[in-house]
Amino acid sequence: MEFKKIIVDLLSGAISELSTVEIEEMIEIPSNTEMGDYAFPCFRLAKVFRKAPNMIASDIGEKISESEYVSNIKIIGAYVNFYVNKEKYVKQVLSAGSDELCKKMEDGIGKTIVLDYSSPNIAKPFHIGHLRTTIIGNALYKIFEQLGYKCEGINHLGDWGTQFGKLIVAYKLWGSKEDIEKNGINELIKIYVKFHDEAEKNPSLDDDARAWFTKMENGNEEALALWQWFKEISLKEFKRVYKMLDIEFDSYAGESFYNDKMEPVIASIEDKGLIEVSDGAKIVTLEDENMPPCLITKKDGSTLYATRDITAAIYRKETYDFEKCIYVTAFDQNLHFAQWFKVIKKMGFDWADKLVHVPYGLVSMESGKLSSRKGKVIYLEELLNESIDKTRQVIEDKNPDLENKEEVAKAVGIGAIVFNDLYNNRIKDVVFSWDKVLNFEGETGPYVQYTYARASSVLRKVKDMEVSADVDYALLTDDLTFQVVKTLQRFPSVIRLAAEKLEPSFISRYVVDLSQEFNSFYHNNKIIVDDVALRNARLVVVKTVKDVIETALGLIGVKAPEKM
Ligand code: ARG
Repeated sequence: MEFKKIIVDLLSGAISELSTVEIEEMIEIPSNTEMGDYAFPCFRLAKVFRKAPNMIASDIGEKISESEYVSNIKIIGAYVNFYVNKEKYVKQVLSAGSDELCKKMEDGIGKTIVLDYSSPNIAKPFHIGHLRTTIIGNALYKIFEQLGYKCEGINHLGDWGTQFGKLIVAYKLWGSKEDIEKNGINELIKIYVKFHDEAEKNPSLDDDARAWFTKMENGNEEALALWQWFKEISLKEFKRVYKMLDIEFDSYAGESFYNDKMEPVIASIEDKGLIEVSDGAKIVTLEDENMPPCLITKKDGSTLYATRDITAAIYRKETYDFEKCIYVTAFDQNLHFAQWFKVIKKMGFDWADKLVHVPYGLVSMESGKLSSRKGKVIYLEELLNESIDKTRQVIEDKNPDLENKEEVAKAVGIGAIVFNDLYNNRIKDVVFSWDKVLNFEGETGPYVQYTYARASSVLRKVKDMEVSADVDYALLTDDLTFQVVKTLQRFPSVIRLAAEKLEPSFISRYVVDLSQEFNSFYHNNKIIVDDVALRNARLVVVKTVKDVIETALGLIGVKAPEKM
């Protein structure tokens, strides 16, 4: 039986005024272990009982008593503090072990979560700004999957719009098929930038671009073939980066996918009496929501970003019947999402509140040194490669005989960047500094991976030693070991919290805590000792920590090499 539940039962026997759910929600885990393993604060009960909170605490204390599982109950101020029977607690956590802690949960069984993330714009570079949506989205995908949900990862590519008209004009004037095939996106950007420079001097180019886009919209074959080709060139490069990050999508249905699906949606918004015409444009006013209106079509009838998003949401609801549809973008799109979510609501869809925008802060570089060739744009691939190079250097210095050097350099170099990105609350801006990212001692990916490798190495060493199935859990009740076990026990609830708050950083912080506690345990307790019982018991801790670190890193998209 779960310890928290035991405490809830104890308390509910003494407080008939609260439901077990209410009691459970009030139970805290003291950060200072001297204050017990669980604590029940009585402040909120003052109103119910019309008594001072510390009086209530001592009344409760009178009514409950220690048991086999709870070895001590202390009233400290307004708190009832519980000290568990350590041996029983350790046994409960470790005998179920990583099978229990790391298994897929059942919270989301039969429910689908749609995640819209990464979603770069075709023919534009995949820069460091896109890193965040890609890895936050991927982490949320894995986290919900761990909770038992079916996840649908959608890359809502920005693959339609006037920029393609410009690109076609630019290609026709200055492009070379050969160069584009050879240099990919870089070449597309080159001619795209040139278009903008030239159009400033010669505005008729813009008219040409608009004309080509209109051709695209009207199904002109030549225009569509070029568009398709630009798209393939870009996708090929995006996929190279996804592969480095080990990220896959279930669907690449981008903006163009909705071209033929918007008309009925616009008609339905109109039928519901939501459209106003302003200056020829169709808009939905959101004055009652204190927001500027949501544009549905422009004066010339063309559709907008929001039109596609509204259409896509309806399509996704019909296709996936989602429990939640999550959109991961930078916070500068807050208004966009708030607006069209309201349009869905005004259309009378009761699932409007299942649409969730997950915004994140900006990334900046600490030193201008990396800010590469083209101003501020740092290509993601360049960044990942640089991190791999730097890691390879460290390996050459510290462990030149390591097998699979290249594989480890990749796992650690890329993992370092991903971890750094997910370490703080997502809404915070990320300042990127190599010293911090690759620091093996700090709160970093490499530090956690190193801890994992250390645990793996211990287990390799004992491979041929005697290991027994009987574990004497009483040997694992010292403070450092007990702390590790308590943190292990928390893992499933941390995953739940990360999903509830849509915050992968809960996992990253957790795995740093676990690593730090494990390292204290490791430095103070020799693992491979002659005493077989002690060795056995400590190895169970090592093995469980190792598995939990691996699973936790997996949830945020970081690999765990066995050696480094
Ligand atoms: N392509 C957009 C951008 O790069 C992000 C798209 C996000 N997803 C969506 N359904 N609006 O800013």
